[in-house]
Amino acid sequence: MDMLTCELPGIPKIGSGKVREIFDVDRETLLLVATDRISAFDCVLSNPIPDKGKILTQISSFWFQKLDFVPNHYLTCSVQTYPEALRPYQEILSGRSMLIKKAIPLPVECIARGYLAGSAWKEYQASGTVGGQKVPPGLQQADRLPSTLFTPSTKATSGHDENMSWKDCRSLLGEEIARQVRDWTIELYEYGRAYAATRGILIADTKFEFGLIDDELILIDECLTPDSSRFWPVTSYQPGISPPSFDKQFVRDYLESISWNKVPPPPLLPEAVVIKTSEKYQEAYTRLSSPNQNTVHHPDPDHTDFFLM
Ligand SMILES: Nc1ncnc2c1ncn2[C@@H]1O[C@H](COP(=O)(O)OP(=O)(O)O)[C@@H](O)[C@H]1O
Ligand SMILES: [Mg+2]
Repeated sequence: MDMLTCELPGIPKIGSGKVREIFDVDRETLLLVATDRISAFDCVLSNPIPDKGKILTQISSFWFQKLDFVPNHYLTCSVQTYPEALRPYQEILSGRSMLIKKAIPLPVECIARGYLAGSAWKEYQASGTVGGQKVPPGLQQADRLPSTLFTPSTKATSGHDENMSWKDCRSLLGEEIARQVRDWTIELYEYGRAYAATRGILIADTKFEFGLIDDELILIDECLTPDSSRFWPVTSYQPGISPPSFDKQFVRDYLESISWNKVPPPPLLPEAVVIKTSEKYQEAYTRLSSPNQNTVHHPDPDHTDFFLM
């Protein structure tokens, strides 16, 4: 059954984001529930996308277990092992929820960029930089960057996130934590990108969040999903144009086609757009989790092209 909101009587809800709702389980544990909400142009639409919450949860769970070279918040997704108080909700929680370690989120969105897209492309055209860092001239939209860039941004509680300089990032987080999240962000992204490329998905950029449990730094939130990253299909990749996004393209195209002014309330999506979008999320997960002909031997992105042959 589709889910737009989630209530678990008796379990305190401590947050509700654009897509996920977060419940307090005990002193050390939270429950993240991914709904079927979808946002486009920073606005949550009114149609649920069938299975989206389940697919997002499965994708994050897949990566948290695979990317085990960085400690993360993942505990389990199997509802049978959840604490007693959550047992009555097994059916609604099944597949779309994750039990996680409670952390204090750092006030920085840790973005890794491997390709020139979105706001990075805009900044590059205006000033030849990406996140304030100098980038060689002559690059086209969607071109691969010579090296992965870490472009942190503020975690705005309302409105748009804003880019932050490396200097500001260091003063906000402290030297040691700033360096660690920067290095992990790049390593996680590069590993994920090399792996996804073998499954026909190009991850252009992504956002990670980190948090602290006492003094221990861990990866939190979601991990390398189509919601937190730009997924492009490898087969239609072509520098010089804005590549179609893997998952939200039908939604964006439809909203553009009816010239919606991007001011809420958003229009309802036609059923065909909803179904196609759901299929794309499913396809992303199927591709990522499929046992593959090509196996990744190196987390080194420079070997990626070889695997694509
Ligand atoms: N392990 C964790 N401990 C504490 N907070 C977390 C943890 N993992 C994720 N969160 C927080 O849960 C929220 C997830 O909800 P989401 O729908 O992604 O919100 P948003 O619209 O802000 O992206 C985020 O605010 C994130 O910082
Ligand atoms: Mg989020």
